[in-house]
Amino acid sequence: MEKRQRFLPVSFLFFFFITLAVWFACPQIGAADDHRTTARARRDAREHHRHNGHVKLFVFGDSYVDTGNFEPNNGSWLPPFGRTFPGVPSGRFSDGRVLTDYIADFLGIRTPIAYQQIRVGNISEQLKSGVNFACGGTGIVSAISKGPILGDQIGQLGQMIRHRFYNQTDLNNSIAIVAASGNDYLYATLQVFLLNATALTRRVIKQLKTDLGRIRDEIGIPKVGVLLMEPAGCLPNSAGPSAMYSSKCNDAYNAIVSNHNQLLKQAVRDLIKESTNNKKNGTFIVLDLFQAFSIALEEHKYHTGSLKYKNPLKPCLTQEHGKYPCGVSHNQNSQVRVCKHPELAFFWDCNHPTQNGWDEIYLALQHSLYQFYDTE
Ligand SMILES: *[C@@H]1O[C@H](CO)[C@@H](O)[C@H](O)[C@H]1NC(C)=O
Ligand SMILES: *[C@@H]1O[C@H](CO)[C@@H](O)[C@H](O)[C@H]1NC(C)=O
Ligand SMILES: *[C@@H]1O[C@H](CO)[C@@H](O)[C@H](O)[C@H]1NC(C)=O
Ligand SMILES: *[C@@H]1O[C@H](CO)[C@@H](O)[C@H](O)[C@H]1NC(C)=O
Ligand SMILES: *[C@@H]1O[C@H](CO)[C@@H](O)[C@H](O)[C@H]1NC(C)=O
Ligand SMILES: *[C@@H]1O[C@H](CO)[C@@H](O)[C@H](O)[C@H]1NC(C)=O
Repeated sequence: MEKRQRFLPVSFLFFFFITLAVWFACPQIGAADDHRTTARARRDAREHHRHNGHVKLFVFGDSYVDTGNFEPNNGSWLPPFGRTFPGVPSGRFSDGRVLTDYIADFLGIRTPIAYQQIRVGNISEQLKSGVNFACGGTGIVSAISKGPILGDQIGQLGQMIRHRFYNQTDLNNSIAIVAASGNDYLYATLQVFLLNATALTRRVIKQLKTDLGRIRDEIGIPKVGVLLMEPAGCLPNSAGPSAMYSSKCNDAYNAIVSNHNQLLKQAVRDLIKESTNNKKNGTFIVLDLFQAFSIALEEHKYHTGSLKYKNPLKPCLTQEHGKYPCGVSHNQNSQVRVCKHPELAFFWDCNHPTQNGWDEIYLALQHSLYQFYDTE
């Protein structure tokens, strides 16, 4: 018996409401007409950027972009994760592709290898598209998993550069993506010291600004895309089980998110000004995940709502028996129920979109990504 559960399972990011075990049936919708649009959008992006196949992508952050750095035999490495793509667990916190896969696709390159998956042998082949350092459960100043926080992830790339896996020419032709989806706030909540959210947000953004500056100045990547936080208060966990029916959000948490995003945008403006004033070769691009996520959620609600599904935002994974109303805990994946049509659901578990969800979010985010080409 564990005396003290210090960390909640990582699949429970933003676990503000530890609520009753309620089992929700998954919506089952007849037609998957969304996929037409999505496939077309992805093809368009690829056509448009085919010429750019030499760019490398370096990814930092948490489970929204992790493609295989989470600790083995845990969470995203256990079935049923990965059942849609690649068919077996791949360390992605979803049934299939996550945001990193879509961004790589947009750039016309293969998904960069996860740092923990680099193996001896064809190293230059493996490193050709860049590296993903993101790890589920991590944040800017704290982590709810054993993974490295953002600054340490950047340190991992620094070390690779010192070992000459990449030279300045490579880095000049690279893009970095930074995702921080809320684990710092979750950590504080779990530790019951979220006494002053404003103060925590300031601390988080101050550190994030330092880290973004390091990617430009220490690492030497000239284009850094930073994701705003998603409307975390609208995730099934944060919103609570009743919200899964009413689609209401946790306004208190969304107010924190809103403040976080305002301060982050200001920090990015400051960094850009600093680049200009000091003639530094680095620009920063805000990727509005808040807006894209919100649009995708609304579209999904509207779409499934029109088909008279009561509960379009209910996660695909549920537990019949167990402590949690949805999702899985790392060693209980066997008890989990998977909905019949993950390809029609928006949320995979209580905190993470399905591949279908990411597909819809990507559609809404895509215009933000063109900024990488507007800043040549
Ligand atoms: C590197 O080699 C391994 C083993 O031969 C192979 O499975 C893998 O696809 C190769 N990786 C790349 C990026 O070519
Ligand atoms: C899985 O990961 C979580 C978060 O890092 C940790 O608390 C837990 O002990 C891990 N489970 C196992 C079986 O290692
Ligand atoms: C930098 O590394 C790339 C391979 O990643 C290589 O093709 C290129 O010649 C190197 N450039 C210099 C200046 O060493
Ligand atoms: C990298 O880019 C900067 C800015 O464009 C340029 O000054 C520098 O010479 C480039 N370095 C290499 C090795 O290409
Ligand atoms: C919370 O922190 C902020 C910033 O440090 C401070 O201005 C504010 O007075 C604090 N609020 C409370 C209730 O302590
Ligand atoms: C930045 O780029 C300019 C030209 O684009 C170059 O002259 C300068 O040396 C670069 N600075 C650094 C730090 O790479």
